Parts: sequence; C-alpha cells; structure tokens
Amino acid sequence: MPDITPDLVAQVASRLYNQLPTGEAFPGNGADSRCIAATLLERAKQDTSSLSAGAVDTVSGSGEALERISHVFESLKTGPAHTATGNPFAHDLLKTVSLPHSPSLGQQADNLVRQQTYRDNAASHGDLKGFVQNIKSFRHHLSGNPDTDGKHVDPFARLLQASLPKSSKLAGTPSFNVAAIRGDFPILHQQIHGRQLVWFDNAATTQKPRQVIDALKRFYEQDNSNIHRGAHTLAARATDAFEGARDTIRDYLNAGSSEEIIFVRGTTEGINLVANSYGKRFLQPGDEILLSELEHHANIVPWQIVAKERGAVIRVIPVNDNGEINLSEYQRLLNPRTRLVGLAHANNSLGTVLPIAEMTQLAKRYGAHVLIDGAQSVAHLPVDVQALGIDFFVFSGHKIFGPTGIGAVYGRRELLEELPPWQGGGNMIKDVTFDETIYSGVPAKFEAGTPNVADAYGLGVALDYVSRIGLPNIAAYEHRLLEYATEKLRSVNGLRLIGNPREKVAVTSFVLRDKPVPEVGTYLDQHGIAVRAGHHCAQPSLRRFGLEATVRPSYSFYNTFEEIDRMVYALHQLR
Ligand code: ALA
Repeated sequence: MPDITPDLVAQVASRLYNQLPTGEAFPGNGADSRCIAATLLERAKQDTSSLSAGAVDTVSGSGEALERISHVFESLKTGPAHTATGNPFAHDLLKTVSLPHSPSLGQQADNLVRQQTYRDNAASHGDLKGFVQNIKSFRHHLSGNPDTDGKHVDPFARLLQASLPKSSKLAGTPSFNVAAIRGDFPILHQQIHGRQLVWFDNAATTQKPRQVIDALKRFYEQDNSNIHRGAHTLAARATDAFEGARDTIRDYLNAGSSEEIIFVRGTTEGINLVANSYGKRFLQPGDEILLSELEHHANIVPWQIVAKERGAVIRVIPVNDNGEINLSEYQRLLNPRTRLVGLAHANNSLGTVLPIAEMTQLAKRYGAHVLIDGAQSVAHLPVDVQALGIDFFVFSGHKIFGPTGIGAVYGRRELLEELPPWQGGGNMIKDVTFDETIYSGVPAKFEAGTPNVADAYGLGVALDYVSRIGLPNIAAYEHRLLEYATEKLRSVNGLRLIGNPREKVAVTSFVLRDKPVPEVGTYLDQHGIAVRAGHHCAQPSLRRFGLEATVRPSYSFYNTFEEIDRMVYALHQLR
C-alpha cells in the first residue's frame, strides 16, 4: 500500500483521465467521466496557476456532486487519510489501486457509503451513492474489453493499478494540465459517428472555453447596449466591456496604446482595411509589394486588388524545399521601390514560422512598411509588436478561442494617423455636414457603424484565458504534440509529410499515396477525427510542392497524445 499523498492522487487522477473513454456520460448525473477525473486531478494538484478557476462549474449537470467528490480528495491534502480517522472513501479507493485482483470496486464503494462518515450526511450520502452507481456502470462498460494477457483481472482495478507512480509515463511530465483545460471546453465532450470527437482542425478555427461562452451569455443577459452614444447605465457597461477588450489586446500584443488597436471582423477584413487605406495613401505606380509564397489568400488577394488600382507590382518571396523562406532571395528582392512587405507570422498550410524579426529589420533598411498576418500565430507564439518594430499586425478572435466575427488590427500610431478611413458611417466622425465631414481620431476613424461589442468582449475574455495558462506553457506542450505527431505519422506507409521547416507551429500537412485527399478527410471524420482536407486557402504554398491539396491535422493545447494515436491508428487501418 503506497503512502497516500496529494501527488499520488494527482497521478492516479491524471492516469485515469487519460484512460477513461472521453465523452462517456455517467448515467447517474450526466457527467463526463473525463471531467470527473479532471476535477479530481485539479483539486489534488492545487496547481491554480495553470488551471482555470471553476473547472467544477464547467462540468455540465453535475457541479454539486463533483464538488463533493473533489472534497473527498481535497481532504487528502490536509488530513491523515491513511489512518482510520482520515477520509475512508479516498483511503479505500486508493487501497483498491494497490490490489490488482481486488473484489468489485462497486461492492467496496457500497461499503464506503455505508460508513459513518457519510451516513451522517444525507446529501453526501446521496451523491456518493450516485457516484457508486456510476462506477458500477463504468465497470460494466469496461468488462466488455478483452484483457491483453488473457487473464481475468478486474478491469477497473487494472485501470487504477496502471495509475500507480511506477508508471514512468507521467514521471517528468511538465505541470501543463491538459485534463483541466479540456474540462473548460464543452464541445470536446461529444461523439461524432459514434466516436469521441477529436478536434484537429484548430488552424481553421479553435473551440471556445466555457469562460468565453459564459461571458457572451452574461453580456447579452445583463449588459447589452450600443456603445458610446447612450447616456445610460447599460451603455456605460457595454462601452466598458468593449474598451476593456481593446486594452486587453493592447497588452497581449504589447502595443504602445489602445488607440493602436482597431476592431475588425477578422484577419481578412483587417488586411483589406490596411490594403485599401494604405494603398490610397502610399502606393504609387511602380511601387512594389513583397509577399511570401507561404501567404494565405487573405494576404494575397487584397493586395492584388489594390495593386491593380494603384499600378503597383507584387513580388513573391520564394520558399525552399523545407517550406522555409529563402532569405537570400528576399534580400535580393528588397529594393528602394519596395513599399510594403506582407508576411504570415506562421503559415497555415505547412505550419512554417517565418523569421519575421529578421525580415522586418531587412525591410526597414529600405524604408518599407511591414504587415504581419498573425492568424496562425496569435494562439501559439508570443508577439511583441514594439520589439518587432512592425507596422501592422492582424489577427482573428476565432483562432484564439474567441468568437467568430471579431478580430483586430494593430497599427503603429503615426501611420494610422496618416491613413484615410476605408469605410464611412456613424461612430467614425466628429462632425458631418453635406459639404464636409470631420473624422474622429484613431481608432474610431476605422470603426464605422455599430461594432461587434459582445464578441469583442468575448475576445478579451479568450485572451485573458490564454494569458492565465501562459503562452510559453502552451507553446511547449504543443511542440511536444507536434513532435509526437510527426514521428507517428512517419510510420504510416505511403504517407508524405509536406514541408519540414526548422520553426513550426503545431500543424502537420500530408498526402497519402493512392488516396485522394478528400477521401482521407471523410474517412477520418467517420472515426470522429476532424481535420481540414483541401487547399487551406493557400494554393500557391501547396503548388510550390506540386500539390493542390493536403490533409492537415492542426493541434492545440487541449489535444492529447492519445488523440494523435487514434488518428495514426485510423490511418494505418486505411492503408
Ligand atoms: N485560414 C483557415 C485555415 O487555414 C480557414 O483553415
């Protein structure tokens, strides 16, 4: 019998979390089994820095029951749990862990419920009884699984046994708490075609944590109003929510002031805003715009439109066979006619991270302005717009766990002040007559009409959520996911990974010999695994590799190594 320590409980709960079938609803209280384990882990670890508050509340329909269960584990930290005066439920649950051929856990738990500690408390008794029922049904579910060595071993006990610290898998695992994080994302806990959903389409859009969903609901239930104009309480609240989000974005990007942040619908609208406005003010016939071969269509087409209008020329920075920018070609292309360099911070089709700091420095030697498309980097890489010395940074809220239909443009203040508005209407004016309109200052000059107040607020909440967990923690975990996925995918016969850049976000792009890309996408969907299969709105980047489409699993901090195993297993089966 090992000593019962919070650490041990944490390891058991973590291991449990990884082995429980995701999305499995305990019939007693409708709770997701993984959420229960996540909650136990959270409480046991007491690691508030990397956990979001209120994970218990996020578990649908079972908050109170889970509270009680987690209190049981909580007491391990304070009481001598391994003695008779300690917490018998926790004690015996852990005792079961040490007995591979234990009698039925359900029976043991029944006994526990009958113990004095809980008999005296009717409410606890009821909840624990429900929990026991749930364990029983879970055991029943497991009993259908064949034992690998053919012997009969109580499957639940085996599961718990595997959780003991002798398992080296958990040793040395950084404190990143994916279990608790998953508890924050309700959408992940569902079945697709009878299988637990695996969301590997994060480069297309990310899922939303409960904190963001709740914030939107709260806003519409309590604070909804148009901003600025109304002299009433709700207008003041809505304005605070909206402007507060602007401040949050300023801090997230380390912009010099909130006035440098313009709300837009997303990256596409943001680049269109800059291209239109910048084009009118700065582009002359013969001027050159440098774009990389790795750009998304959103950082190509707006420039093509404006270049045509202004007589400017687009030049393309090529990439090498690894999918990296050819820096010497870039230097060769830069010249005094270069007006603007437009670069993805991270490319969406292969995952390449571009050396934007170095490329910005080079551009500045020629007096060129630099726009960075941050759609694929904002959720993965820290950005400091001042340290980088860039002129524009554009991103979408929905790529960083925020709502769709909201995004932001950072623009360097002196530059924004020089640029003309690109849309006219209310909110962006100081005074209007039929002869003349005087525009507001930045950023209002670029925000005609009623803005998307609620979603801006939701975006601020999403950025706070990410900041609480910490981008360095997220990046480190995602890097491990990427390395693991890359290695595993290489084992699939006939699979060709596209691009092998040194610096990458957690995206893998591949084709399978003799299997059309759409077919692979549909096949994975049948297994509950969502990936993007197509040209990813970045056709030039794929054509560089002679392809029209790839399969693109893209990973986020709520994904797990087990999910990667499931995808790779499915691909092996397809072969
Ligand atoms: N830009 C998004 C993607 O890469 C839609 O899938």
